[in-house]
Amino acid sequence: MSVRHFLTLNDLNANELDELLDHASALKKEWRAGKVRDSLKNRVLAMIFEKSSTRTRVSFEAGMIQLGGAALFLSPRDTQLGRGEPIEDSARVISSMADAVMIRTFDHNTVRRFASVSKAPVINALTDDYHPCQLLADMQTYREHRGSIRGATVTWVGDGNNMCNSYINAAQQFGFHLRVACPKGYEPDAALMAEAGNYVSIVHDPLLAAKDSNLLVTDVWASMGQEDEQAERAKTFANYQINPALLAQADRDALFMHCLPAHRGEEISEDMLEHASSVVWDEAENRLHAQKALLEFLILGQMG
Ligand code: CP
Ligand code: NVA
Repeated sequence: MSVRHFLTLNDLNANELDELLDHASALKKEWRAGKVRDSLKNRVLAMIFEKSSTRTRVSFEAGMIQLGGAALFLSPRDTQLGRGEPIEDSARVISSMADAVMIRTFDHNTVRRFASVSKAPVINALTDDYHPCQLLADMQTYREHRGSIRGATVTWVGDGNNMCNSYINAAQQFGFHLRVACPKGYEPDAALMAEAGNYVSIVHDPLLAAKDSNLLVTDVWASMGQEDEQAERAKTFANYQINPALLAQADRDALFMHCLPAHRGEEISEDMLEHASSVVWDEAENRLHAQKALLEFLILGQMG
């Protein structure tokens, strides 16, 4: 069987995604009950980080250890990747020694190039274009709190960035409607929007976009690599804050999510993370459980 990768949510089909989330919730219960699981005993995950991370690093590293395996943290500062060794050469070597490779980088093409010659499954742990691992956690969290997301309305507030692009993929895979509320000029990728057809609409006014929505989601206004645009973006995005007033437009059972890290006073008001509708801490923890399910699926080639 040829090796499977997880570069976007579209690398799994809708059934596989459903099964994966079921398995993630089962793994969570098992882990909370203190059951020892060694499904990935002696397996190794190589983790290449070209951008900072707290949640992604801790969840992948802890996840591998909890399943009986190990994870190697590789920084471009200390490997030959940072000194210009071609991606494909690095991919051939690293994937001949590790059972899976996780990459967080800038250009999405880097993970594609790596995967094209990798003998081991490659996981996209965030690029400038996509953040599929976060969507697994978000979808698991919605399902655990509210059941199936099929047919729901989800409102994305803010930048049409990597997270937003992965929400567009999710709308198609999980069958919900996504409204994107963003300032003009910050819309998500046009080709991706076209492909998503009726699953996605742009509603520039955040109050209209939030109306009767079942889930409100946002992310930082300036992503990693856009630090020099921070001041300009703060002005442009000033009306695109999730706060209790915006949430009041949504369905009364609406949930609020944020992939974190959050900037209080910018994309969210000071009180949003602790708001009754907020599930951000469950969402963060579910990175661990969803990725353990993903690692088992990719490394063992089976679900559960
Ligand atoms: N949400 C997320 O990916 O967080 P980190 O940048 O801390 O990994
Ligand atoms: N859009 C953010 C997500 C961080 C997890 C970034 O790329 O920096």
